[in-house]
Amino acid sequence: MDSTGISFTALFTGQVWYESGISNRFFTSPKGRLLYKTLRPFDRLADSIIGITLHDMLIQRHQIMDHRIDGLIKTQGVSQILEIACGYSPRGYTLSRKYPDLKYVEADLPHMAERKRALLQANHGFGPDHQVVGCDVFEFGAPYGLDYVMEEVLDPDRPTILVTEGLVNYFHLDDISQVWQRLAQLGRVYPKAWYITDLVYNFGIHLIPGAVAAGSKMLSLATRANVNLHFNNRDEIQRGFLECGFTDVQIHRPEDFVNHLPIPMGKSKSVVRVVESQIHAP
Ligand SMILES: C[S@@+](CC[C@H](N)C(=O)[O-])C[C@H]1O[C@@H](n2cnc3c(N)ncnc32)[C@H](O)[C@@H]1O
Repeated sequence: MDSTGISFTALFTGQVWYESGISNRFFTSPKGRLLYKTLRPFDRLADSIIGITLHDMLIQRHQIMDHRIDGLIKTQGVSQILEIACGYSPRGYTLSRKYPDLKYVEADLPHMAERKRALLQANHGFGPDHQVVGCDVFEFGAPYGLDYVMEEVLDPDRPTILVTEGLVNYFHLDDISQVWQRLAQLGRVYPKAWYITDLVYNFGIHLIPGAVAAGSKMLSLATRANVNLHFNNRDEIQRGFLECGFTDVQIHRPEDFVNHLPIPMGKSKSVVRVVESQIHAP
């Protein structure tokens, strides 16, 4: 499956995180700034019409995921993280400095991995046990298969978190479910393992007014991928993840964290969910 069209959206997110003070300037770029400026009017319109902005959604998911990951490092002894589809996420940069014993592997499509690696190298951004590898979640075997990265690059003896952020809604449920099943299967080798992802649930995108729908259509055209909202409610999310082989599925809402984290909340209820599930060794 060719999903390279999605890669440029990482530039936008990188810019949003920087503008919000949660990332470094070296993760931004002129293209990212241009995208940010171009999409801002659509976001303002979305705010006034439906009370939800892409900007807030990107901050919400990132802050919750950071918070949960940090908690699992502190309370569960997690010492290894694989961040799949890392884009320009500053998480590896930040966590590998904060926790020098942490093994942090960032993975993305080969061309993105190359760019991220070059950025980190140029800015002395690599932590003590930190690397960026090429990986396509739909491929098998060396050099870019998910199985290859998990079996050959990760350490099977470490409690591990597998993360995807901003990835799953670009794929049909059948396709991403196959990736989830493989993560749940491959993750069983670690003494303890978790999978954390964000997703946007189906809030009735077909009901939103034309101008905002046009913004979402533009994104689909530019990425050559449709935005897929897989689940209609909590029960469906739970069932979907359990059926893929995960256990102890927890679904976090931004509203649950407003008193603990600097999370922007729009006028309407958030449509972002962070799903945290466990993978049990056999
Ligand atoms: C929306 S960006 C998300 C990046 C980052 N995690 C974030 O939240 O900004 C989607 C990322 O998925 C990557 N990607 C797309 N298809 C992929 C695939 N098949 N395997 C691995 N990564 C993929 C893109 O290169 C891009 O970096």
